[in-house]
Amino acid sequence: MTIRYQTKNLAPWVDDKVLEALAPQVSAASELLRSGKGPGSDFLGWYDPSKVVPTAELSAIKEAAKRIQEQSEVLVTVGIGGSYLGARAVLEALPYEDATEEGVAIDFAGNHISARETEALLDSLDEVEVSVNVISKSGTTTEPAIAFRILKAYMEERYGKEEAKKRIYATTDFKKGALRKLATEEGYATFGIPDDVGGRYSVLSAVGLLPIAAAGHDIDVLLGGAQEAFKTYGKSDDVLENDALRYAASRIALYRQGKSIEILSIFEPGFHYLVEWWKQLNGESEGKNRTGLFPAGCEFTTDLHSMGQWIQEGQRIAFETFLIEEKPTASLSVPDTGDDLDGLKYLAGRELSEINNQAWKGVGLAHFDGGIPNSSIVVDAMDARTLGNLIHFFERATGVSCYLQGVNPFDQPGVEAYKTNMFALLGKPGFEKQAALLNARL
Ligand code: PA5
Repeated sequence: MTIRYQTKNLAPWVDDKVLEALAPQVSAASELLRSGKGPGSDFLGWYDPSKVVPTAELSAIKEAAKRIQEQSEVLVTVGIGGSYLGARAVLEALPYEDATEEGVAIDFAGNHISARETEALLDSLDEVEVSVNVISKSGTTTEPAIAFRILKAYMEERYGKEEAKKRIYATTDFKKGALRKLATEEGYATFGIPDDVGGRYSVLSAVGLLPIAAAGHDIDVLLGGAQEAFKTYGKSDDVLENDALRYAASRIALYRQGKSIEILSIFEPGFHYLVEWWKQLNGESEGKNRTGLFPAGCEFTTDLHSMGQWIQEGQRIAFETFLIEEKPTASLSVPDTGDDLDGLKYLAGRELSEINNQAWKGVGLAHFDGGIPNSSIVVDAMDARTLGNLIHFFERATGVSCYLQGVNPFDQPGVEAYKTNMFALLGKPGFEKQAALLNARL
């Protein structure tokens, strides 16, 4: 089994008895996902990873990735939310040796509106050969649209209009939206995002696959890992047999006991963006109808010297899920200096990964003793196959958690509120009335 889900530190809050009581709801939620009869079911295109990208499109992605590698040293991907976090999560979670030598460096834009960051990015591009991948399903999201305007102008000024066109790749809706129109008019190479795959479930579509392939990773292995998880976690609707369901059910059982925050804690800094991706996946999927766990993240051991205090002794409203790489490929041990001046002789010759693992086990027990239920999602070494497994595991668990709570896992009506206000305050035509109301309150 690629993923091992360890739940000893969840009892007595969650044990087999608690899960058995929830079992009928869990199998009904799982069946809703499988049958496509639940709310938002027209966004289940991600569910079977083998069906997200047709073979011809997959070949086109690989060819484009090769072209990008021949053309450039850096690929700037422009996108936000689901059009950004998945690729970044994968790229940073995989060890650098997972990528081939031909792989290009990936930079990110369009995930903020910061002049400082954008200026620094442009400055860094001058010394290297550049391609750009603009990603937006709707094609109208303000942050990436602004960043792409800036990068398009940069590319055209630097390379000339014709050469710039050959270096710009657009990933967007197959037919509609401003970006599709612009890409068609300019003659960019384009990739489609299926109608039935929402942003935060889109990492295994062209959205994530093109930058991941351009960076030199094997996207077939990644997809194979997801497919493997699809089979493993699709076999049974029994919460006691299926770890994706056990994880989903445990989260909701804890939520119903007043544990309204889930902290995904890692001991590997490279998993930072995996946590960010997971936060988006859960926050946008579950947080509606005045319900939903608040997904938080901690990076240990760094945060043990800051947030560790709150977790150990603060309000008892959280539970913790550790995401653990137990046997990383990187190997480094504590040097044996022959003395004990720093009091570390007892660690001489021992692997950092062993020390990190003991930190995880010690933290799990300490937090449990402090009243924080915790479980661990454990893998051996992080590689593309394992990551594919994890992506599907989390997506499936999120879908089931949402159905257990009676919310649509695939919409995000709440994100419109800030957009309306921003458009009004910026003077977008059509928002005049809202602008007057808001300005009166400022
Ligand atoms: O999960 C989602 O749907 C969102 O986070 C979107 O991915 C995000 O808002 C970006 O949207 P778009 O790809 O349309 O620019």
